[in-house]
Amino acid sequence: MLKFDFSYMFSPNIDRGITENEFSSLERLVIEKIEKVNTLRPGFVKIIFDNQYLDTVQSMKEWINGFENFVVIGIGGSSLGARAIKEALCCPDWNYLEQNKRNGSPKLFFLENPDPDITASVLDRLDLRHTLFDIVSKSGSTAECMAHYQIVRGLLQSRGLSVKDHLIFTTDPHKGVLRKIASSEEIRSLDVPMDVGGRFSVLSSVGLLPALACEIDIAELIHGARDAYVRSVDKNLLQNPSAVMAMCHYLHKQKGRTITVMMPYSNRLYGLADWFRQLWAESLGKKTSLTGEVVNEGLTPIKALGAVDQHSQVQLYNEGPDDKTITFLQVERFSRDVWIPPVHEEEELSYLSQKTLSELLNSELLGTERALASHGRPSMRVIFPRIEPYFIGQFFMYYEFTTAIMAELLKINAYDQPGVELGKKITYHLMRRKGFENLELHQPLKRVVID
Ligand code: PA5
Repeated sequence: MLKFDFSYMFSPNIDRGITENEFSSLERLVIEKIEKVNTLRPGFVKIIFDNQYLDTVQSMKEWINGFENFVVIGIGGSSLGARAIKEALCCPDWNYLEQNKRNGSPKLFFLENPDPDITASVLDRLDLRHTLFDIVSKSGSTAECMAHYQIVRGLLQSRGLSVKDHLIFTTDPHKGVLRKIASSEEIRSLDVPMDVGGRFSVLSSVGLLPALACEIDIAELIHGARDAYVRSVDKNLLQNPSAVMAMCHYLHKQKGRTITVMMPYSNRLYGLADWFRQLWAESLGKKTSLTGEVVNEGLTPIKALGAVDQHSQVQLYNEGPDDKTITFLQVERFSRDVWIPPVHEEEELSYLSQKTLSELLNSELLGTERALASHGRPSMRVIFPRIEPYFIGQFFMYYEFTTAIMAELLKINAYDQPGVELGKKITYHLMRRKGFENLELHQPLKRVVID
């Protein structure tokens, strides 16, 4: 299993750490919240115990392997999970390998941001005759995704290619324009269950199909998630990583530590920090409580990369405002290692020789952790024995469950995102969408502009 070291969240290991009293006085409430989440059985839990998603996706393997390129078109929860899986579990130069070294599987691309420079250069690289586009949008109404969909559909049509052979829609089973088009044109489609929101959908077809496309063992992802779920509902809280994580972040928030930094010491795990950033921000950042009071809740997630950001962020984390908790992601055994040869005798260089890069990276992690502790700053560690699907699946479930418990403690709804609606409507207005003509735009009372 993934291991968790919470030592530096607690007193007396750091200043203003969590005391035994604080921890135990929260225990009963957290057990109640775990029971509540478990009884409500949110969609992100249901999907991992329903084999139909796994089986349907797995049955598509042969079809997908007929393509040279697999392109995920989606944004936010519709792409971040798949991207995190690819970055963690595919070899870093996947798209540069010959097809036989990829086991006949396609290259994997993402079209997320409507940045014309990036979209144009990705499209330049694709031979459309051998490309499959996975259009991922639960709502079927997200402008970035719908723009990219229409661009690729236009290209396919202009080349005389059958859209049915090059498109698959991953969308709501009943609602939305993509579902309508899929039914009327018999385009292949996969369901995003109604009760699974984008940022909780990584272990549904949203994340599983792109993962399968690049040869990842998706059954092991689900296996890991199931095992993590079992621990997430354990009422013996000291055996339950999700509960302790939620309690630590909740109690430190009460001490004014409202910023949550996730800092993997592994480039391959950096995508997990991106995925977490959305989950934490969109689920917990809410104006109103469940009872309608204005609470403006939330914790601000930040991502950092070890050891790179030791040379950028750690000065602030050690000596700046004491408003953060840091979560390190540590890898015990990297899949490869690089040995540093003895080429110099000078002590400034020779102390590194005969060591490995993994030894250096993990020593830097521990160095940062202990330095933070000396400055009285809280941190915790999530320890990956290896970077494998089983552990990545666990990571997703632990964090989804932690987020659900946190939302319960903060008395807010984790599963909606009303705060992004207004911006979307204004975009529709600016793009002259019918029905949004009469929107009143906020105007600055005083303009401060330098031309
Ligand atoms: O978590 C969420 O619900 C959002 O981030 C969505 O995933 C994102 O806005 C994309 O939405 P959709 O899948 O409807 O295109």
